[in-house]
Amino acid sequence: MTSTAIHSLDALFSTRAKTVPEAGSWGDEAEGTISLAYGFADPQHFPVKQLVDATAEILAEDVNGALNYGPTYPGLIKLVVDRLQSRGVTSATAANTMISYGSSQILALVPQILVDPGDVVIVEGPCFIGAVRSFQEAGAKIETVPVRADGMDIDALATMLADLKARNIHPKFIYTTPTYQNPTGTMMPLANRKRLVALAEQYGVLILEDDAYGDLRFEGERLPQLAALDTKGWVIHVATFSKILAPGVRMAYCTGPEAIIKRLNKFKVEGSSGPFLTRMVERFAADGKLDVHIGELNKTYLRKRNVMLAAMKQSFPSDVQYEVPMGGFFIYCTLPADIPTAKLAAKAREHKVAFLPGAGCYANGQGQHEIRLAFSYQNDANIAEGITRLGAAMKAVRAEA
Ligand SMILES: Cc1ncc(COP(=O)(O)O)c(C=O)c1O
Repeated sequence: MTSTAIHSLDALFSTRAKTVPEAGSWGDEAEGTISLAYGFADPQHFPVKQLVDATAEILAEDVNGALNYGPTYPGLIKLVVDRLQSRGVTSATAANTMISYGSSQILALVPQILVDPGDVVIVEGPCFIGAVRSFQEAGAKIETVPVRADGMDIDALATMLADLKARNIHPKFIYTTPTYQNPTGTMMPLANRKRLVALAEQYGVLILEDDAYGDLRFEGERLPQLAALDTKGWVIHVATFSKILAPGVRMAYCTGPEAIIKRLNKFKVEGSSGPFLTRMVERFAADGKLDVHIGELNKTYLRKRNVMLAAMKQSFPSDVQYEVPMGGFFIYCTLPADIPTAKLAAKAREHKVAFLPGAGCYANGQGQHEIRLAFSYQNDANIAEGITRLGAAMKAVRAEA
């Protein structure tokens, strides 16, 4: 009876549900492990009092608007459009801007409106693999362009686009995180941004610009988002409140060609976005309060980045390579040939420290000697201790080689 029941349940799953890869599991490390694996926000900086105050205010002022069914709150759309406009995204209007439950929702909706099974989507390697999974689930064939110290390799992209065209293949979109990329922390220079937008225009390919970390700038000048350089309507720009307010709030937005945003809205299962949360986020962020908060975050993340770098300098073998990120959450390392990531992961478990293996950030199996370290979540002492443990694990792997 039991086995028949299980058997028949298996038979009911869709092909997609049967083939979807296992989601990564959180928190399965041994007790006492310091995890530098995940890009969680710093819990010390959740603006608890401000959120409580904002909640009290909106409930006192408009309880029906906040707690009943209703359309997406125009106040948050206005705030987002004003922010985009102030950054030079002059095309952003209320009509071509959409609020969503996290940017993950947008990254999953975009392939639904653009991708038929077998269509080509171009991504960076490495990149935020959560997005790639959504593209793959829609049936996309993934082509990977390498990331260099200055972000996506635009020469390689140009070659790929020309090659695809020669084979009569028209890619649907290019997914890129030009500012403080996940996982590499790299920043695409202005000239490359301009070239990327020009290539999109030339080949008639959309750009899906993921600006998840754009506000987390510790050093260096602010560069224009791709959406600010796009005059012909080839960029879908996605950003999130996850990294600058709190991931648990699940609020994000996108702007782009109106025809795209209209279709995204149609595919959104819940047409509007949280009357309560949208009001709370708007109230929290209004009148420059969000920028004050971001300023505080950036001081903290700069300090934590420096703590991590100092510990790495002290504990890592000198032939571990990395770039210093000027913003974002991560430091990305390339390991020497005698320290493969898989061996290091096993040794790191013994030393009670965890990291994200680089291979988890590629769609094509690369990254066997790469690791991502997040300085965003742990406190200073844990960052330093975690890196000390990881350095010891690296040396132990090397000693056994
Ligand atoms: C580059 C990038 N995009 C999008 C997301 C998803 O963020 P959320 O769904 O919380 O907005 C993440 C989360 O880590 C990310 O790193």
